[in-house]
Amino acid sequence: MIAVYPGSFDPITLGHLDIIERGCRLFERVIVAVLKNPQKTPLFTVQKRMEQIQACTQHLPNVEIDSFNGLTVHYARIRQAQVLLRGLRVLSDFEHELQMAHTNNSLSTEIETVFLATSNEYSFLSSSLVKEIAKLGGSVNHLVPKSVVLDLD
Ligand code: PNS
Repeated sequence: MIAVYPGSFDPITLGHLDIIERGCRLFERVIVAVLKNPQKTPLFTVQKRMEQIQACTQHLPNVEIDSFNGLTVHYARIRQAQVLLRGLRVLSDFEHELQMAHTNNSLSTEIETVFLATSNEYSFLSSSLVKEIAKLGGSVNHLVPKSVVLDLD
């Protein structure tokens, strides 16, 4: 079974990487798909984010990095994926994630969303917090992969 793990990944965190690693144990292939979102002003370009993800997933033979625009379910269908993979951190994620899962299901009933509970140690972590800490001069070594630490310096 092929899973698409969609997201902004601006930048990828150790929490995302945890989901990718565990997804790779469950699925034949995991396609990490970076959304090209013209509505957001990202810190890193899509190309840079893809490079960051590539750099920290070298050890995973069944991972593929890609980018997409438009609807996630359309992208998943084109890639012949049956599953959308998402991480759930805390209760506050749940409402939005459930809304997205139902919306995606209404658009494409053959694609299922599978949630993995984010490992406890990363349950507080988000890309926005990482960016804020880095901007204010704090250390993010324990929060993001090494390649991202260098990019945030
Ligand atoms: O990392 P994020 O920002 O939480 O990821 C959100 C993402 C990319 C999964 C979501 O915004 C998305 O799927 N956008 C694509 C547009 C789409 O399919 N919208 C309808 C379903 S919610």
